[in-house]
Amino acid sequence: MTTTQLGDLSTFPDGSASAHRVGSRNLVVVRFGEDLFILDDRCSHEDFPLSLGEVNAETREIECERHGAMFDVASGQPTSFPATRAVPTYTVRVVDGQVEVDLP
Ligand code: FES
Repeated sequence: MTTTQLGDLSTFPDGSASAHRVGSRNLVVVRFGEDLFILDDRCSHEDFPLSLGEVNAETREIECERHGAMFDVASGQPTSFPATRAVPTYTVRVVDGQVEVDLP
């Protein structure tokens, strides 16, 4: 497990998704206020960047822009078709204002 700093919390737009690259890994960070979620930036349906999609703060979901599948940002589980497989999620925390993620 490796802990990687992604930057200052203030640089993450509230209520939306942003793409981040760590090594060879593409991640999407979703921020709802003080709550952050990190998933692979890859829809499990057809390998499309989830960071291009809209987020829903009320249901805490992200929508794949390509075919409209929805995913729970906390669990990575799909909540609508056509996706049927979960997207990997990672542990994220804020330490002294810095966003950190644990990657395998
Ligand atoms: S590529 Fe995401 S729903 Fe099809």
